[in-house]
Amino acid sequence: MKIRLVSFISLLWLIGCDNSQITRDGQAIYYQSCVSCHDRGHGGAPVLGDDKAWSLRISKGKTQLLQNLKQGYNTMPAKGACFDCSDQELEMVLEFMLAESKLNQLPSN
Ligand code: HEC
Repeated sequence: MKIRLVSFISLLWLIGCDNSQITRDGQAIYYQSCVSCHDRGHGGAPVLGDDKAWSLRISKGKTQLLQNLKQGYNTMPAKGACFDCSDQELEMVLEFMLAESKLNQLPSN
């Protein structure tokens, strides 16, 4: 009985660990992977919060931007160098960048 209780508790602990990885949000990923280029426009990267630079990008549509992000785009590395990012996380960080430029309310295509 005691052993069962212990293994039940360690199972809960393991599940807890998994959850903590999923709770990384767009902003956290931005500051982890994208900030080095997108805060200052390194190599011509559109700067976070620069509405004008982003409005040119968003005219391609969110779907296209996401695809370019996943595959890499000119000098930007694939996945924006966030190699352990899932597709869902890449979408979240893209949403974060667009929201910072107040462009998230534009149509998605
Ligand atoms: C090594 C530098 C670098 C890093 C790191 C980087 N980017 Fe970029 N990014 C660029 C550059 C440079 C461009 C502009 C490329 C061009 O237009 O030629 C760009 C463009 C983009 C675009 C617009 C693509 C398009 O189709 O116009 C998006 C969206 C983007 N980055 C998102 C991200 C995200 C999200 C991250 C982090 C997960 C990230 N980037 C990390 C350099 C970087």
